[in-house]
Amino acid sequence: MQESPLGVGHAPGKIILFGEHAVVYGRPAIAVPLTQVQAHAEVFPHSRCVVEAVDLGRRVDVAEATADDPFALVVRLTCAAAARELPPWRIVVHSEIPIASGLGSGAAISAAIARALLDAWDVLLSPAELSRLVYEVEKLHHGTPSGIDNTVVVYATPVWFVKGAEPEPFHIGSPMHFLIADTGVASPTRLTVSAVRAAWEQNRARYEALFDRIGAVATAAREAIEQGDVRQLGSLMDRNQALLAELQVSSPELDRLCRAAREAGALGAKLSGGGRGGNMIALVEPVAVERVAHTLRRAGAVRVLSTLLGDR
Ligand code: MEV
Repeated sequence: MQESPLGVGHAPGKIILFGEHAVVYGRPAIAVPLTQVQAHAEVFPHSRCVVEAVDLGRRVDVAEATADDPFALVVRLTCAAAARELPPWRIVVHSEIPIASGLGSGAAISAAIARALLDAWDVLLSPAELSRLVYEVEKLHHGTPSGIDNTVVVYATPVWFVKGAEPEPFHIGSPMHFLIADTGVASPTRLTVSAVRAAWEQNRARYEALFDRIGAVATAAREAIEQGDVRQLGSLMDRNQALLAELQVSSPELDRLCRAAREAGALGAKLSGGGRGGNMIALVEPVAVERVAHTLRRAGAVRVLSTLLGDR
């Protein structure tokens, strides 16, 4: 018989609709949870505190791990937040979220582990406290994170996000369909974030101007979402993609999938997340979902998911 866990925790993936990279420099961004893919953690009695991530081929003994191990850090931070000692538990992690693909796998795994421990202790943390905890681990994953990934993954709701401010929920004027297509190229966010930082250091005026333009697109996009104006939103996605290409974070694979989606009738398309690989998103009218998804697969997407914004 399967042993029943002492505690369980889950967290969804995420997609950034507008504003990636510029959000690191204080401009606004829009992100939504991607509930089709989730990270899961379960806690079982054991002799020591270990984290096992079968999919990632990792087993970490928390007491022995170094300070820069993300699994050990999330366990230690959760113990501190709950005022508990390191427990003699085995924390088993499974994730359906592909890593290094812009879908927030790092933040979701941290949130799932923390939630499973809190569930086992029957301790509650507010979303703001849990998001802050996951943010500390995100710093190991990508150095200077804006905090958008931990926020959307923990709050599990569409957010208007500005670094350092409380996330704002916003109104969705009418349901909108997005396709999410994976280039199959792994691209750790840490690398693209540090490449953008190096370029910004070389030419601050140019990059600040690009970030301003991306911020203005995100602001216009919020208005389009609130008004349910899908045509306007699609063209804003194309504009955001052009600016991301100027930031040098697109790639031939992302460009190909964006082009293919538009040619098959998508209203707009852009990369999502750190870029240079990972996933792109396309806004599609309901009648075009199947056709665009098929075209994306033929253009090389290794996986295509679909999600509906504003279905509740
Ligand atoms: C990563 O999902 C989004 C980036 O803007 C980095 C960040 O905000 O921390 C590229």
